[in-house]
Amino acid sequence: MSEETQVAAAGPVQNLKDMADLVSLCKRRGFVFPSSEIYGGINACWDYGPLGVELKRNVKERWWHAMTDREDIEGLDAAILMHPKVWEASGHVEGFVDPMVDCKKCKGRFRADKLEHAACGLKPSRKPGEGSDCELTEARQFNLMFKTHMGPLEDTAAIVYLRPETAQGIYVNFLNVQQSARQKVPFGIAQIGKAFRNEITPGNFIFRTREFEQMEMQFFVKPGTDMDWFEKWKEKRIQWHLDNGIRKDKLRFHQHKDGELAHYARAAFDIEYEFPFGWQELEGIHNRGDFDLGRHQQFSGKKLEYFDEMGKERYLPYIVETSAGCDRTLLVALADAYRFDGERTWLALHPALAPYKVALYPLMKKPELTEYSDKLYADVRKRFRATTDDAGSIGKRYRRQDEIGTPFGVTIDYDTLSNHTVTLRHRDSMVQERIPAENLIRAIEDQIENWGK
Ligand code: GAP
Repeated sequence: MSEETQVAAAGPVQNLKDMADLVSLCKRRGFVFPSSEIYGGINACWDYGPLGVELKRNVKERWWHAMTDREDIEGLDAAILMHPKVWEASGHVEGFVDPMVDCKKCKGRFRADKLEHAACGLKPSRKPGEGSDCELTEARQFNLMFKTHMGPLEDTAAIVYLRPETAQGIYVNFLNVQQSARQKVPFGIAQIGKAFRNEITPGNFIFRTREFEQMEMQFFVKPGTDMDWFEKWKEKRIQWHLDNGIRKDKLRFHQHKDGELAHYARAAFDIEYEFPFGWQELEGIHNRGDFDLGRHQQFSGKKLEYFDEMGKERYLPYIVETSAGCDRTLLVALADAYRFDGERTWLALHPALAPYKVALYPLMKKPELTEYSDKLYADVRKRFRATTDDAGSIGKRYRRQDEIGTPFGVTIDYDTLSNHTVTLRHRDSMVQERIPAENLIRAIEDQIENWGK
């Protein structure tokens, strides 16, 4: 039996209430910086710092494994720039628009359907201009796709778009993937990549930005089986967020009713998370029917039908899509993990997401302790992403790691030199246990394996 000690929390544990606390932590500790900050920043663009990239990689890796560790899903990495006809076929040129209004007084620019953002005090329940201080223009339709030109000529024939979703790269490659990977329907294609939308009202930190990453999977099924697959994927996707350690009472489904459904969707549910600024979409699960393959077949003039050898029939598969924002998943991980007890701030991140799993602390900067710690660090690093810290009091060092979500801390002291035991500290409970140094890796592996059980 190992001996255990625990330090009491300073007060009741609080969760994130004000996004500003998270934004400040992210900047200070190197998760997320404002883009081009030395030039005054650029609206709603953010850079991921040393810890942010690790967290983001962990999010992507977990998603990628959940998707592609199955026999029936293949991976893809399609180009951001695609033939402009793709966006005509997809409906984006015509229909990927938000209604935009300008206020002549405050010079603000707002989405006519989201007027709670209006600076002069317009309320969402009011119609533009009605009984408010804002003096709004008529709503104009604004296309959210970023345009650029391909090649040296900036004429209309050279216009290309930055993709506003990764999905279309999958649809146009449907037969390439199916045939090269010798897949049979039902099967899926997964992709992670950047997408761009010229949002009218970006904001709430990295929640809505103009450049972001999506993690999308398109599952091709036989018509008639689509609603069964849709239900399966709904359940799988919410479970994935729960497996990331997100609190159950902060997640819910929101069903799109007739007026809300996107032009391509036969059925759609959002997985929503309750942020400090309210319930908001985290991921969408859509039954897209044969809209996409049908349109690409029509616009390209190329047959995109699947030939079912068993049933000896040809058909256009229906598509069930799962579409998660990578940055939004990362924001949910951080917002959900934020804890404060009056003195201590910590991120109760799932170890699989935490940038570092373990931090090692030689109690003092003495050569005999540092030497022992360095050897142990070299071993631990072979198994886990780890860090070491020998600066300042041990309490301060614990706090520094707590704040970035490192789940385990290991202290090397003078007893370690004589009996080869170390103190293993647990971030959330602050329990400290004394264990043999040779059992350290196994002990951490066990803890991670049984996390949340
Ligand atoms: N292919 C379907 C599609 O793109 P969407 O609901 O428009 O569906 C899917 O987007 C997900 O992408 C959203 O649930 C969200 O997580 C993320 N997303 C969309 N726009 C975003 C933005 N401006 N900034 C950050 N993430 C965004």
